[in-house]
Amino acid sequence: MFEKLQMAPRDAILGLTEQFNQDRNPEKINLSVGVYKDGEGRTPVFQTVKEAERRLLQQEASKDYLSIEGLRDFAAAVQDLVFGPDHEVLRSGLAVTAQTPGGTGALRVAGEFIARMQPGTRVWLSDPTWPNHVGVFRAAGLEVRSYPYFDPSGNCLAFGRMLEAMKAIPAGDALLLHGCCHNPTGIDPTPGQWAQIADVVQRGKLLAVVDLAYQGLGQGLTEDAVGVLTLCREGTEMLVASSFSKNFGLYNERVGALTTVAASPQAAQVALSHIKACIRANYSNPPAHGAAIVATILGDAVLRARWEQEVRAMRERIHQMRRLFVRTLKAKAPQRDFSFIADQQGMFSFSGLTAGQVKALRDKYAIYVVESGRINVAGMTESNMDRLCQAITEVLKI
Ligand code: LMR
Repeated sequence: MFEKLQMAPRDAILGLTEQFNQDRNPEKINLSVGVYKDGEGRTPVFQTVKEAERRLLQQEASKDYLSIEGLRDFAAAVQDLVFGPDHEVLRSGLAVTAQTPGGTGALRVAGEFIARMQPGTRVWLSDPTWPNHVGVFRAAGLEVRSYPYFDPSGNCLAFGRMLEAMKAIPAGDALLLHGCCHNPTGIDPTPGQWAQIADVVQRGKLLAVVDLAYQGLGQGLTEDAVGVLTLCREGTEMLVASSFSKNFGLYNERVGALTTVAASPQAAQVALSHIKACIRANYSNPPAHGAAIVATILGDAVLRARWEQEVRAMRERIHQMRRLFVRTLKAKAPQRDFSFIADQQGMFSFSGLTAGQVKALRDKYAIYVVESGRINVAGMTESNMDRLCQAITEVLKI
């Protein structure tokens, strides 16, 4: 069988890092994958993570399996982080959470759960979206469709067109929404726009699936949950895929969670039983370490406060790099307006560079960005900014 196979295409994002690692140019810059770098260009372990790991190492008494749905304390901590303490959804027992290997794992379990429970459901993705959404949901057995999201003429949300398209989605279909820090555009709906989206979801009887991979990297931990909170209405059914790769820097520990919100506590428990069946047939039960770190930090008031500061510092550095990027580009290429980049949220900037310009950045300058023109602002530093903006100025001439 293997002799007949052709090479599979490289992954649109992680494939670039493979290529970057092979690049011998000493001045190479990787702004493709969404990984945070500090001012020195490193991706350090959070201090609170190190402290939690020290405690875990001391206390750990067994490597016994976790339950299929994972750590109980972790699930409670995730719900608290997403909804805030004492939210009606939590008080009424409407939310259930399963620990998953990363946010991607949560999306895959969500997709399989939907495909198994309601065969024929389509999932509607924003255009553009994280390229792996398509792969994950197709692999889960769902048909993938898209709705307009981005208006290239104004570098803004195509809100009117988006809402009209959402209104035409058949009842029962799944609607994937980025909870905050939209990947790749960095453009999020305003709280008022979220309310209108929630109206359409409710009236159209759509199943909202929220990808919440960047909570805390946009406006703040609470502010970034506004979409999820606005979607929570009486009778709402919703799935929320959280990732802790970015906001805890736990990329390689694969920590995520799938939270299901149902209309009644009974329905929530039934949903969880099916989600557990999907998990069991997929990876059996989740790995413990990363989730134990998150539960330790969020469960300790002092560690939690220190972690919130670490997240704030990360968010502020990203905003600072955005402003510096815009300023440096303005000085080098005043003919082109990049000011919209300062208003985008989260790790990514949707630069408007064409595929040809992206290729030239890679081939001529060893600067790696995603083909859509998405640039990881969190990978910029004061020391690589000048070279980056000079190279962009050169490729703009193409
Ligand atoms: C990204 O979009 O770069 C991140 O979500 C990492 C990934 O897995 O693609």
